[in-house]
Amino acid sequence: MLSNEPRELSKDPGRYLADRSERLGTEGAFEVLRQARLLEAQGKSIIHFEIGEPDFDTAPHIIEAGVKALQNGYTHYGPANGLPELRQAIARELSRSRQIEWADPENIIVTPGAKPILFYTILALVNEGDEVIYPDPGFPIYRSMIDYVGGKGVPIPLRVEREFRLDPAELESLVTPRTKLLIINSPHNPTGSVLDARDLDQIAEIANRHDLIVLSDEIYSRMLYSGTHESIAVRPGMAGRTIVLDGFSKTYAMTGWRLGYGLVPEWLNKPMSRLMVNSNSCTASFTQMAGVAALEGPQDCVDNMLAEFTRRRELVVNSLNAMPGVNCAPPVGAFYAFPDIRGTGYTSQDLAHKLMYEGGVATLSGAAFGEAGEGFLRLSYANSLENLQEGLARMKKVLEV
Ligand SMILES: Cc1ncc(COP(=O)(O)O)c(C=O)c1O
Repeated sequence: MLSNEPRELSKDPGRYLADRSERLGTEGAFEVLRQARLLEAQGKSIIHFEIGEPDFDTAPHIIEAGVKALQNGYTHYGPANGLPELRQAIARELSRSRQIEWADPENIIVTPGAKPILFYTILALVNEGDEVIYPDPGFPIYRSMIDYVGGKGVPIPLRVEREFRLDPAELESLVTPRTKLLIINSPHNPTGSVLDARDLDQIAEIANRHDLIVLSDEIYSRMLYSGTHESIAVRPGMAGRTIVLDGFSKTYAMTGWRLGYGLVPEWLNKPMSRLMVNSNSCTASFTQMAGVAALEGPQDCVDNMLAEFTRRRELVVNSLNAMPGVNCAPPVGAFYAFPDIRGTGYTSQDLAHKLMYEGGVATLSGAAFGEAGEGFLRLSYANSLENLQEGLARMKKVLEV
């Protein structure tokens, strides 16, 4: 007979967890930040190169729009896919900035940050055993989500010899009849690489030839040091098979507002919006009104941020190249340097550890972004020039011993 006594919880939590919980990964940056904060709590000084968010404040006119929206009653549920005024502003932005004429406001899904677009795309498309090709090194959440849903992650290595742009011939060699989805990310986290027009043409041809769906992560689209941003979405045949992911976190220094979006093919609209209804209901309404102000208002906040990142990039790249055993090519986009540290004799993990505990500098091991990231470190230069100078001096000291 079953007892009515309260029962002790099993010592093995795995007993309660779904198998897929074990497969979920995380982002190394959050773990390194946690360690850095522990050291700081013990009185140690740490310079932060690990965090992937602009250190700038959101521009005042955007904050004002958010506050006004709160005062004007934007405190209720809204449409699951986003407020019409924001979806219209996003469609205009996609057409203005990358000539995506098929960007119909109806097929734009606004989400709390851009991450849910990744999550929903993979949930909506990937069956157990389906193959997904993703960049290695790459944003760790891609692999984590693929594993979570029981898909098979197929990494495409990005090599320093090719400026960390994927090689289309190698891409094609990885396609099998089970390949469903290809994830590309340009400008790229963690390497700062940018796919050029020819790369995008060739990738689009491969996607068409093999009937692949492409998730194009364009979250750093406005963070380019030369040239203009191009999207695979405008290549022939890509209108029905591309999901464009972008958002406000990086461009408008709005990480904490949680605002992102996806442009999806019409056939994916319903499954994606149902995922939104099932998980979030909708994105915060006042945040969305701040997003309208960001897109439609003056853009000098973006220009000024990029000008500052350009100055920092020069300092970081020059200083890294002056360190023994370190080689760093200038990133073309985003705000990350990805130096080759193989000449130091350390593994990425060992060097990142040494820099943190001996030098007081928090960096990320390239291997935290995939196997092909071994031999590299990621440094985010979302930090003031003075802090960057100090952190780089500390790094040099550790490496010169
Ligand atoms: C490549 C890439 N995609 C997506 C995201 C998610 O951005 P959000 O903060 O808008 O969810 C990030 C954030 O670090 C990123 O680096």
